[in-house]
Amino acid sequence: MAKNVVIVGAQWGDEGKGKVVDILSEYADVIVRFQGGNNAGHTVIVEQEKFILHLIPSGILRKGKKCIIGNGVVVDPAILLEEIDMLLAKGQFQDSSNLLISEDAHLIMPYHKKLDVVRERVRGQYKIGTTGRGIGPAYEDKVARCGIRCGDLLREEVLRGKLKTNLLEKNHLLQNIYHEDCFAMHDIYEQYISYAEKIAPYITNTSIYLDEAIKAGKRILFEGAQGALLDVDHGTYPFVTSSNTVAGEAATGSGIGPTKIDKVVGVSKAYTTRVGEGPFPTELKGEEGMRLREQGGEYGATTGRPRRCGWFDAVAGIYSARINGLDGMILTKLDVLDNLDKIMICIGYRYDNNILKDFPSDSDILNKCEPVYEIMDGWKEPTSNVTKFSRLPKNAQKYIKRLEELIEVSIIIVSVGAGRKEAIMIENPFQ
Ligand code: GDP
Ligand code: IMO
Ligand code: MG
Repeated sequence: MAKNVVIVGAQWGDEGKGKVVDILSEYADVIVRFQGGNNAGHTVIVEQEKFILHLIPSGILRKGKKCIIGNGVVVDPAILLEEIDMLLAKGQFQDSSNLLISEDAHLIMPYHKKLDVVRERVRGQYKIGTTGRGIGPAYEDKVARCGIRCGDLLREEVLRGKLKTNLLEKNHLLQNIYHEDCFAMHDIYEQYISYAEKIAPYITNTSIYLDEAIKAGKRILFEGAQGALLDVDHGTYPFVTSSNTVAGEAATGSGIGPTKIDKVVGVSKAYTTRVGEGPFPTELKGEEGMRLREQGGEYGATTGRPRRCGWFDAVAGIYSARINGLDGMILTKLDVLDNLDKIMICIGYRYDNNILKDFPSDSDILNKCEPVYEIMDGWKEPTSNVTKFSRLPKNAQKYIKRLEELIEVSIIIVSVGAGRKEAIMIENPFQ
């Protein structure tokens, strides 16, 4: 029996991780976010009510679960407090002891957000299409060893000292390179001290907490953000986010050893979407893409931007399975394909008179790849009310089996609607 299960996005994010984590939280005791920040937008629909979580693990919507924001996450305290307030207002934040934040998680500061936005502006047509939430600049400071961490909020002198040193450099950059206004030390300090008071009760050593939970036989669910193709090492660089989004990060970003992970499960849509810039071989730029967008409600949960839509890409799927070491795949949004006559699956890339079977690491090459498609018949029947695999239309079953065969990973859950109950559980990863 698997006790510690990692859930990661297998594509370019927005695969439906929030919904999946909500379903699987029922079987877990502890739910952990281990990377990313409020660039994530995880949608969970419980009894017609919609929740979009950016920082707090989706497990918070189930009573009695411990939720952890691990050391690998970058935390914008204003957003965190807003999220807590939103959950309180909706009666979903049962007990403050149910949320723990790592003292080692880095803070997103106002200058990170500003730098994110102005750098995108300067990049012009070469922009990345970031969420503008300060994610990249916050991770830059972490790696540059000048970041301010949640634990620093509890030590006023340390906070003041680090802020002072950082502002020297950031203000210089903002003023002289980007011709922007400077930040005043006092304003940021006062603002963050006020956050500190509110956040202090949640800040702790979450690595020790997790170690004890594992030793006590508790079941841990790790909730990835973004997706494998946005990983800073393995994604479509430079059109990526600034953290490692693959399963390996579940260990590093939460302070447990990799040997403690029992199972890694990817989440993938039955087609593909991407928000922001960067290569996307199976993108449908015309009416077909628009139809998928409307049918799937493909608008960003964080920025509201329309998502680019296209067919399922098995080359990317195989790659994602490899770099994550997937034990299983969860396929979401099958219902979005219900009305189509024909469905395409990309099984290779045509590039320079060759057929590539491996996902290229160079974004320029990927940009020039033409998808090679296999065509499948649609099923033209609604699937949202189906709860058993054998009850799915035959062509839907064939489609799922074909995807499994191509990516060489078992599909263990099929999601057929946004609601908690709209899912076909073939194999529970915790069992
Ligand atoms: P995440 O970032 O991976 O958690 O995904 P998002 O929440 O950003 O985007 C997924 C969207 O699809 C949300 O609006 C979900 O409510 C919705 N969704 C999830 N699973 C399904 C499904 O099986 N069918 C349909 N129609 N919508 C789904
Ligand atoms: P969830 O967890 C989809 C994308 C941005 C941009 C790139 C870099 O909801 O799946 P960043 O702000 O991180 O520096 O932006 O990454 N991106 C996401 N796309 N889903 C996400 O999160 C994303 N988080 C970041 O659109 O292309
Ligand atoms: Mg999302």
